[in-house]
Amino acid sequence: MKILVTAGPTREPIDPVRFISNRSSGKMGYALARVAAGMGHEVRLVSGPVCLAAPENVRVFNVLTAEEMLAAVTANMKWCHVLIMAAAVCDWRPVKVSRTKIKKTGEVPSIAIEQTPDILTTVSARKGRRVIVGFAAETGDPIAEAARKLSAKKLDLIVANDVSRADAGFETDTNRVSLLDCAGVVRHLPLMSKDAVAGKIISWIEQTRSTV
Ligand code: PMT
Repeated sequence: MKILVTAGPTREPIDPVRFISNRSSGKMGYALARVAAGMGHEVRLVSGPVCLAAPENVRVFNVLTAEEMLAAVTANMKWCHVLIMAAAVCDWRPVKVSRTKIKKTGEVPSIAIEQTPDILTTVSARKGRRVIVGFAAETGDPIAEAARKLSAKKLDLIVANDVSRADAGFETDTNRVSLLDCAGVVRHLPLMSKDAVAGKIISWIEQTRSTV
């Protein structure tokens, strides 16, 4: 299969030295790209700014902002059979980006923000026969929220990730997730390495693709 993976955070600039971002290290998305390539698939990776080495046999497209990630994903949609969105795309960005460093004058600046484009919602509208997998990073009720996002974003599978735990979610080498599919099946996985989680997700996709 031709698999497109996204990984890492996006960075939404405020001025030339400051930005809005989040804690994503890219480890989950890079594990998916590495494991999928190791399982014999052709893999492309759209990566936000991370400190990880490019996985072997994977073509990497580096991006910074949500807008750039949307453009890179859109440009690769025709190519892929599968899209896996493991990236933690910033939900908001400053309305205006200052071209010069905002000075500390004593007055606290207020920064107006607006929503970034939702990449999954944009591309799933033209998904055709592609398999689209999303993630849900949650601190409340991961299963309920993931189920809502699965349906709202028209996904085939969503990986519910409770990011309030110390051994799972952002920055860790391990993860504890549940897989929810569009037929309503929920599979809870125990704590395992991000590579092992990636293996479970790619195997799920292989099985689904062989039955459609
Ligand atoms: O990178 P690591 O440190 O290894 O951490 C892994 C992870 C916690 C980042 C990863 O496992 C994870 O949960 N990724 C999704 C994070 C996220 O943005 O979740 P969300 O619930 O806010 O978004 C839901 C889905 O919509 C995600 O697939 C996201 O990629 C996508 N999205 C979000 C916003 C947006 N503007 N466009 C999108 O497509």
